[in-house]
Amino acid sequence: MNYDVKDLKLAEQGKLRIEWAAREMNVLKQIQDSFIKTKPLKGIKLAACLHVTTETANLMITLRDGGAELALTASNPLSTQDDVAAALVKYYEIPTFAIKGEDNDTYYKHLHSALDIKPHITMDDGADLVSTLHSKRKDLLQNVLGGTEETTTGVIRLKAMAKDKALKYPIIAVNNAKTKHFFDNRYGTGQSTIDGIIRATNILLAGKYFVVAGYGWCSKGVAMRARGMGANVVITEVDPLKALEAVMDGFTVLSMNEAAKIGDIFVTLTGNKSVIRGEHFKSMKSGAILANSGHFNVEIDIPALKKMSKKIRNVREFVVEYKMNGGKSIFLLGEGRLINLAAAEGHPSSVMDMSFANQALSAKYIREHHKKLQMDVYDVPEPIDMKIAELKLKSMGTKIDSLTPLQEKYLNSWKEGT
Ligand code: ADE
Repeated sequence: MNYDVKDLKLAEQGKLRIEWAAREMNVLKQIQDSFIKTKPLKGIKLAACLHVTTETANLMITLRDGGAELALTASNPLSTQDDVAAALVKYYEIPTFAIKGEDNDTYYKHLHSALDIKPHITMDDGADLVSTLHSKRKDLLQNVLGGTEETTTGVIRLKAMAKDKALKYPIIAVNNAKTKHFFDNRYGTGQSTIDGIIRATNILLAGKYFVVAGYGWCSKGVAMRARGMGANVVITEVDPLKALEAVMDGFTVLSMNEAAKIGDIFVTLTGNKSVIRGEHFKSMKSGAILANSGHFNVEIDIPALKKMSKKIRNVREFVVEYKMNGGKSIFLLGEGRLINLAAAEGHPSSVMDMSFANQALSAKYIREHHKKLQMDVYDVPEPIDMKIAELKLKSMGTKIDSLTPLQEKYLNSWKEGT
């Protein structure tokens, strides 16, 4: 079996942690049980480019049990859990190509290794696998039935490809499922981003000025949780609607120029580049802490930060000090990469349960329906989304009401009024 992981000796610990995560992934477990019986992915080769975590491991095991032949590569150079990668190889016999801290060349070499299985389905997080396949491995396009995409940034990239007519197979935008972005993006990113910042720095959030760039679903979660820990949360936005929402949610909304002057901690989650840049570094207070929780490490202009610094040193794991002329220090966490995965363990398994249930069922859907799909980006079919919500509620022991016949009739009638 082909693989490239840090150290197979870590496999035992990885296996224990994968099993621990499985305890909170009951929806995926139910899908796994049905996959074992029906083998909906038999004969399918699936290349996955995902953060290599305990939750991803449980998804891979489910897909394998559904009959798929797999290859897994990391979707970020700094998000791999090396013990999980080792366990996937040693105990679950899943070819895995991922080493935490790998350089850019190794990252892309690993993507190519996963593509070497000649996939029928791609499962991507950020669209690097799809873009590599479309630009460097065009010969493989003929085999592909379809793909899935996990994240907002990836969906935006793939929609741009579809608009340019560059996309050569259909994609299911898992991110857009309600059971994905309402929960994973908001509660998952909310908790895991705070977790990453605290693990990296051990600082108290209470009383700090905590600047969140962006007010999409991920930012909303981070802002909500930072407020819950007593921080003074400031939002920056470019979208008037989202800014208005932030104002009415009770947050202070400022331009980044203004926020830069008062912030103690800054987190970017915009999906855009150079959101915090030279002009902002100039007006920041000494000791300001910068982190990113957006998909790519382009939101903070790190090259400009480097240029403005006379001394750069590691002061703790995942914390680099940039010392500037005049003696001011700015601290950058996790190389500006996803802080929740770089310094913590990513989203908790209970939310990934729903995200990955969507992934598993979307892979099955592609297998069954690819002939009817165009080279475009599709939402997860509504019945799949609703089924996952029902199963999740059930697994949490929460019961809800159902409509009475009278209520159903009322909702379908337009004659009853005042
Ligand atoms: N993205 C964010 N958190 C994650 C996790 N725990 N596993 C896989 N992908 C993630």
